Amino acid sequence: MTRRLHRSRKLASIIDAVGNTPLLRLARVARSAPSVEVYVKLEFSNPGGSVKDRPALRMMQDAIADGRLTPDRILIDSTSGNTGVAYSLMGAALGYRVQLVMPKNVTKARKDITQAYGTELIFSDPMEGSDGAIRLVRRIVAENPDKYFYPDQYSNPSNPLAHYHGTAVEILDALGDRITHFVTGLGTSGTMMGTTRRLHEHTRRVHCVAVEPSEALHGLEGLKHMGSSIVPPIYDAGLADELMPVTTEDGWDMSDRVAAEEGLHVGHSTGSNIFAAVKIAERIHREQGGGCVVTIACDRGDRYFAPQKWEKRYVW
Ligand SMILES: Cc1ncc(COP(=O)(O)O)c(C=O)c1O
Repeated sequence: MTRRLHRSRKLASIIDAVGNTPLLRLARVARSAPSVEVYVKLEFSNPGGSVKDRPALRMMQDAIADGRLTPDRILIDSTSGNTGVAYSLMGAALGYRVQLVMPKNVTKARKDITQAYGTELIFSDPMEGSDGAIRLVRRIVAENPDKYFYPDQYSNPSNPLAHYHGTAVEILDALGDRITHFVTGLGTSGTMMGTTRRLHEHTRRVHCVAVEPSEALHGLEGLKHMGSSIVPPIYDAGLADELMPVTTEDGWDMSDRVAAEEGLHVGHSTGSNIFAAVKIAERIHREQGGGCVVTIACDRGDRYFAPQKWEKRYVW
């Protein structure tokens, strides 16, 4: 057996571990489309465990560069999910205070993980859910605008830019001209908008598909049903070449399947992404006899262990 010697990466800061995530070929769950390669980009390999490390870092770096974030300001936002973890990690690594507003009844695990990085928590009325947290953070910032940096990932162009300059470039680096299709779900829409914009500039046409929950009330955490939601200002409805609705059941079932069949334990938005990627692979296997589909693994399945019922609708 030949052994390859790898030189291990040396990092000067944990922020240098963001990006350059691996692409994994899905062999088993995509076997119904044998002429098509299906890849998933493992964004849970980022140090905060999710795709949100990229935009959180970029939003902070861009704000530091143009003076919106200074050492005397506190980064404040209203998320207890993956973006909250990412802000907390980046804040600790870059030396900025972070405060997160979240409904008082979020699980202990969500409070613990962000507090572990030194983040301060402010609790909003549990009866008002995530909208209550948004309203409270806006009130806090309005009362003391000079004290805070409020990134607001839904309207911050640095969010899609992180994917334009990062995720998409890495995909093209790894696959070059082989990629024919890109598929991912819509939350803030940063991943879809930024990656698609860059892939559409590629010399060869890449067909980009946006995945969204098929119903307004769904259990696909991280994803938005745009028709019934406040539409994020960064979302451009005309950018995707196709919109594919996925049911909660199909997303959850695919999460179970990839764990059992590929050894890939992922969250339910990733289950939906892979479900949609396999559907597209089956279609192009039938109609075009080959292709290469890429999708995103947003986070790991262990983020969703023992969720409380009410949390299913909590927007990450
Ligand atoms: C688990 C999960 N899936 C999907 C998404 C959607 O990503 P984006 O906000 O880039 O649309 C998010 C982001 O909030 C997420 O946390």
